[in-house]
Amino acid sequence: MHLATKHLLGIRDLRSEDIQIILDTAQQFKDVLQRPIKKVPSLRDVTIVNLFYENSTRTRISFELAEKRLSADTINFSASGSSVSKGETLLDTVNNILSMKVDMVVMRHSATGAPHFLAQHIPAAIINAGDGINEHPTQALLDAMTISEKFGSLKGVKVAIVGDIMHSRVALSNIYLLTKMGAQVTLAGPPTLIPKHITSAFPVQVTYNVREAIEWCDVANVLRIQLERQNQVLFSSLREYNQAYGISKTLLQSLNKEVMIMHPGPINRGVELDSDVADSGQSVILDQVENGVAVRMAVLFLLSGRKDPSA
Ligand code: CP
Repeated sequence: MHLATKHLLGIRDLRSEDIQIILDTAQQFKDVLQRPIKKVPSLRDVTIVNLFYENSTRTRISFELAEKRLSADTINFSASGSSVSKGETLLDTVNNILSMKVDMVVMRHSATGAPHFLAQHIPAAIINAGDGINEHPTQALLDAMTISEKFGSLKGVKVAIVGDIMHSRVALSNIYLLTKMGAQVTLAGPPTLIPKHITSAFPVQVTYNVREAIEWCDVANVLRIQLERQNQVLFSSLREYNQAYGISKTLLQSLNKEVMIMHPGPINRGVELDSDVADSGQSVILDQVENGVAVRMAVLFLLSGRKDPSA
């Protein structure tokens, strides 16, 4: 099994077969992670640099752990505290790191297209860990794994993506992945946060009524309101956002079914998602985080070109 790509820059570039190979391989690695000894020698002598130009908790720790579980050698780079503050360019920084014999680069950057730019200039395999408001492919893959575990497959599953679609790389990667894999997708939230260029480009439904979306769906993937990326007022206040578009226990209890609740994190508790929902049995938020390690192990292994996941 091998992917028809050298890099993982986005879900947009993946075939549905590639997505399935990653999900199947992730399931094998998830089995490894249940064992008393959770480490395999699959990437011994492979050196990976984690380049984080933007803050992260889950993605960064998850990649580091995945690399350690695969026995890779890792280097962690944060833009803060580096020579970036002295004006060093992205390409100079990466070429200096590569001259120390690095094989793979995991990269998060606030600029859309930063990993695509690197892929054109350096020989190492590049994995996008989130670029601006563009894509976050490993998040969509771990979300897909979490949905597949519950429903057996993605085909026909009704997924509502709720909230700040406009600023969300998680939304775009999920839309690419879910529509490629045969899930049904509805985008829900305020009209100011659901851009027309997305709704017209994909086979998705749109509603500005969150109750309607929740009544329809099997799974609600609730997105963080990304205040740090908003440079204009797009809704009246956080309190009114919560009242009109937030997911509450009252809303879920008024349904005659149980909707699976997802969130990529970090959560704005009491804004897009109430605490008693986030911490309830309906929430699979920590399952998503757990699956993230297995998915990232799969992506790193498959892009490394190594043949046997257990050797
Ligand atoms: N889901 C996600 O990308 O979280 P972090 O920003 O903490 O990595």
